[in-house]
Amino acid sequence: MDSTLERIRQFSTNQYSNENRLNARIQIYDFCERKNNWHEWVFDNLDFDNVARVLELGCGNGILWKKNIHRVPENARIILSDNSQGMVDAAREALGRHHHQFEFEVIDACQVPLKDNSFQMIIANHMLYHIESKQKVFSEIDSLLTGNGFAYASTLSTRNLYELIDIVSEFNNSLLFDNTQTIQNFNLENGENILSDYFRVANSDIYQNDIVIKKTEPLILYLASCYSMEQLNVLVSNYIDFSSYLESVIKKIGEIRITNKSVLFKFGKK
Ligand SMILES: C[S@@+](CC[C@H](N)C(=O)[O-])C[C@H]1O[C@@H](n2cnc3c(N)ncnc32)[C@H](O)[C@@H]1O
Repeated sequence: MDSTLERIRQFSTNQYSNENRLNARIQIYDFCERKNNWHEWVFDNLDFDNVARVLELGCGNGILWKKNIHRVPENARIILSDNSQGMVDAAREALGRHHHQFEFEVIDACQVPLKDNSFQMIIANHMLYHIESKQKVFSEIDSLLTGNGFAYASTLSTRNLYELIDIVSEFNNSLLFDNTQTIQNFNLENGENILSDYFRVANSDIYQNDIVIKKTEPLILYLASCYSMEQLNVLVSNYIDFSSYLESVIKKIGEIRITNKSVLFKFGKK
């Protein structure tokens, strides 16, 4: 069986019950124009001065730390948390065995059972848009942060991937996905305003590194990672035609260029 199809067949119904969909999404960034890796760039922007305790909310499979493991400050104690057991297991698997400074916990970011005023750094990357009640999650972050601590939150631009959406719409509308829907309540364009109601925003650093791709499989895998089970069925039954269609687009224009733009906000107590 085609290995892309095989991977797609292993997707869970729920986005985050295990890491399969997340990994299928992340692989597209191997095709970024510049070798400036997102997780390394985020790490460059974290200020570890005077940081003893770190909490990551919605850590996913722990990739931020795995990618930067050789420069994690030795004295920092880091709790990686996510509300999905599957993700916490994946993060533990990626880091736990070798790295004594990490702890792993299943925690809902809206109800964090940890001591107030105990973290100098809190990270919430590409996850706040999943949370409807900003009031709850922001009040947790505010309580958990120390007075001079900083939180960091990244999110996507609403312009992300629009070229890919245009291409898919020419083939079959039932394979369309609405990338703005998921991120509408917290994105690059509205994030600072939303945060400013609760925090003092110190920085908003923008990362742009477009995807330039000439291969069909990584594109299909990426799209599939965003699909509902119903859309996956449409994809699987039209797989050969869809592949040929994407190949013909690439042949015609030489390469597919896709906007990839994110922001990292740094903020502290008001
Ligand atoms: C797009 S992934 C980002 C993962 C990781 N932060 C990264 O940047 O690669 C979003 C993650 O947020 C988690 N998540 C969603 N809602 C959550 C909540 N209420 N509390 C904690 N984690 C949550 C999901 O399980 C998932 O692992």
